[in-house]
Amino acid sequence: MREVEAVLIRVLSSQGGRLPVVWSSTPLFRTPRRTQGRPTGGTRSRSATSAVGSAADRIGGPRCHAVPVHLYHSSIDGYHSSSHTTAYEAAFAGGHPSLSFPLDGLPPMSHLPRVFVARRIPSVGLDRVVSQTDAWVWEAQMPPPRHELLRRIAGCEGVLTLLTEQVDGEFFDAAGPQLKVVSNFAVGYNNIDVAEAMRRGIQVGHTPGVLTDATADMAVTLMLCAARRIVESVDEVRAGKWKTWEPLGYIGQDLVGKTVGIVGLGRIGTAVARRCRFGWNMNVLYHDVRRNETAEAELDARRVDFDELLSRSDFITVHTDLNESTRGLFDRRAFARMKPTAVFVNTARGPIHVEGDLADALQDGTLFAAGLDVTDPEPIDPSSPLLRLANCVVCPHIASATVASRNGMAEIAADNLLLGLRGEPLRCPVPPPETDS
Ligand code: DGY
Repeated sequence: MREVEAVLIRVLSSQGGRLPVVWSSTPLFRTPRRTQGRPTGGTRSRSATSAVGSAADRIGGPRCHAVPVHLYHSSIDGYHSSSHTTAYEAAFAGGHPSLSFPLDGLPPMSHLPRVFVARRIPSVGLDRVVSQTDAWVWEAQMPPPRHELLRRIAGCEGVLTLLTEQVDGEFFDAAGPQLKVVSNFAVGYNNIDVAEAMRRGIQVGHTPGVLTDATADMAVTLMLCAARRIVESVDEVRAGKWKTWEPLGYIGQDLVGKTVGIVGLGRIGTAVARRCRFGWNMNVLYHDVRRNETAEAELDARRVDFDELLSRSDFITVHTDLNESTRGLFDRRAFARMKPTAVFVNTARGPIHVEGDLADALQDGTLFAAGLDVTDPEPIDPSSPLLRLANCVVCPHIASATVASRNGMAEIAADNLLLGLRGEPLRCPVPPPETDS
């Protein structure tokens, strides 16, 4: 405790005595949070609290809200241990740099399950993970390099991944046999070798349901933007190229009464179909390995084979998962079967369309326009021909980027992780591969 107190005094002194948040990942220091001088929330450790209190007393007491302090258990190597995530947010809000420093000699880490969180997620989920586990959060904007990821997950019982982390045999080997759960912060899980996880008895969770409407809205937004040439028009206005109102200028396609072809009529595909049917009175065709009788009854949707969908649709929107049968599904052959007035939209996964073939189809008039929220690779290569085409709208995979969706994803991902650590069934487990679509 003396060492701890000494460090605290150093920090408090350097910050003029302001210490609203002291938060450490070590068991002794779990949740000794102070707000306006009063310890709040969590399961406080008396010794930790008294060390903070005593350190504060000796230099005048904690007085305001701004300085997060994180006590590292081991040496600093540029990564932040998780427990100061909320403090980190406080630091940004208060315009103060986060303070991080090593504190050697503390007792060994606790019995709490060790987890790795591959990026900061909304605090509604992250705070629960951090307070209930011995967590390490990757704070950088960019994903952890592979070697770093493999190093960080060693010995973990749970890992919270994003679609940027490849979870495969190598990953499981690096983590070790104690790994119980992988919680993917996404509804899609093509980054995970689910069969291999199941073979090893590792539970895998994902975040379905909470991003359905946001993703459906994005698909319709892209349909409208591409059909009505919105980005191209806005670019011209911004470049000072808008000359006058032109009877023949910027003419696009209507949605009303047209036919939408939906590839993959699951949750998101159905939400798009509803918008199209009830918003623009569109006819709905779909292609899916499974029949969706509810959508057929509700929306008068008709299940057709892939080629019929291609040739009859005015808008084609992709809502299937990425697997070996959908990889490269939209290639030169597929685009050639579509109407020259058709609009292609992909908000699912980039590898479902072949970028070069799409660029050719958009360039030579095989297709009217395209709207993409996903590319292959991500981010798209800045030299991609798609980025030079006026009739192609490319967004940076933002379909689920709404407050409600991301918070919902964080809650489910946290639930999945914490349940899996306790060996309980997950809130949203991924389906086993054989029943997967
Ligand atoms: C997902 O959840 O699979 C999306 O692609 C990202 O939100």
